[in-house]
Amino acid sequence: MFSLFAKSPAPAYRPIGPERSFDCAAIHAASFAHPWSETDFEQLMLGPGVVADGAIEVNDGELAGFVLSRIALDEAEILTIAVAPERRRCGIAQTLLLIHLRGLAALGVDRLFLEVDTDNIAARALYARHGFHQVAERKAYYRKGDATPASALVMRRDFGEQDFDGQDLGES
Ligand SMILES: CC(C)(COP(=O)(O)OP(=O)(O)OC[C@H]1O[C@@H](n2cnc3c(N)ncnc32)[C@H](O)[C@@H]1OP(=O)(O)O)[C@@H](O)C(=O)NCCC(=O)NCCS
Repeated sequence: MFSLFAKSPAPAYRPIGPERSFDCAAIHAASFAHPWSETDFEQLMLGPGVVADGAIEVNDGELAGFVLSRIALDEAEILTIAVAPERRRCGIAQTLLLIHLRGLAALGVDRLFLEVDTDNIAARALYARHGFHQVAERKAYYRKGDATPASALVMRRDFGEQDFDGQDLGES
């Protein structure tokens, strides 16, 4: 039967650049208590070693999610990842991260770091599935929306030679 609420088709995944700064800032604002501006994204994306991938809706070309990393030699850091609230829990971050990690490995990255709020259950589950493990904790690293402090976990993911032969990075 025809449904007005038919499932959205899977987005296309591809590298993005500063032309998507406005869209990244909009998703970031819907995702974090202290969002980055369009100019912040533009400057970051024009900076050295910064690579970004986006999930682009096939219907209308809208950005559904993105991930941004900065590479320094054989090391990289995920600076941010976010999916538009209305498009969460349908596997977009899972695929986006898989594609992004593959891209980083192809660029010669051996190890990847990120920081995540200890209270961010969704992100921690996502990173665990992608083989990240905790290497440190930074107490009172973030300020929440109500200004109370929150700790950050520093997580690390090492790329092995066999990593990208299969489809599911979470198995590694
Ligand atoms: C974290 C975030 C990027 C996940 O995006 P998403 O597209 O909804 O994630 P996916 O649907 O691909 O889920 C992949 C896995 O992540 C985990 N996950 C995602 N959302 C979750 C939630 N709300 N609760 C628990 N686990 C969750 C699950 O392991 C999930 O796999 P499963 O669906 O098979 O259980 C999204 O919630 C978001 O944008 N949050 C705000 C920004 C943010 O916190 N970014 C991370 C900063 S470090």
